[in-house]
Amino acid sequence: MKVPDSGMPEEAYWESLFDVPLVLDRLGVDGTVRDVAEFGCGYGTFTLPVAGRIAGTVFTYDIDPLMVERTRRRAKDPRLPNVQAALRDVIADGFGLPADGCDASLLFNILHFPDPQVLLAEAARIIRPGGRVLVIHWRSDIPTPRGPDIAVRPRYEQVCALADPLGLSAGPALDLPPWHFGVVLTKEPRR
Ligand SMILES: C[S@@+](CC[C@H](N)C(=O)[O-])C[C@H]1O[C@@H](n2cnc3c(N)ncnc32)[C@H](O)[C@@H]1O
Repeated sequence: MKVPDSGMPEEAYWESLFDVPLVLDRLGVDGTVRDVAEFGCGYGTFTLPVAGRIAGTVFTYDIDPLMVERTRRRAKDPRLPNVQAALRDVIADGFGLPADGCDASLLFNILHFPDPQVLLAEAARIIRPGGRVLVIHWRSDIPTPRGPDIAVRPRYEQVCALADPLGLSAGPALDLPPWHFGVVLTKEPRR
């Protein structure tokens, strides 16, 4: 099932809406991170910069074949051999990755799904204890030029409340100007 209101505007416009290096810096995406899984590659806006920073592979999935194709084409840069983009309905079929294998999973601009706990649980399943689910979304407290209806946008406090029963501990709200907030959810070690 395609997440409602998850269609994309034209690529250059979409990519004008983010300060990608700032987002990745504030989320701590750097060379200490190994494998990463991403829900919804879109145009590869984050996929490619993440691949350029980490030590492992970005496994990225999208339900839209045009998005997968675009991301694959952009990743043909020989410096980015570590992008694996595949067509997949992650809501219906999950990531298809083993449990506890990745250092991080990315839920960028997607957590407005009507049953967000399903997404968060799957994002948590595939990361190792101590790994991180990284969430960004459109702010609800300011007017923004894009984004799903305010009524369905997740707020920081809601993300924290969803994460807690899944054994994910939330860091502080991160300001990701101009239009986004972020939160790092760390998977608690097994007791
Ligand atoms: C709003 S876009 C965000 C893309 C990217 N994460 C970004 O922030 O640039 C959401 C993407 O998720 C994809 N998507 C929606 N439902 C999906 C599903 N069930 N499985 C995989 N991808 C999905 C859409 O096709 C779209 O490319």
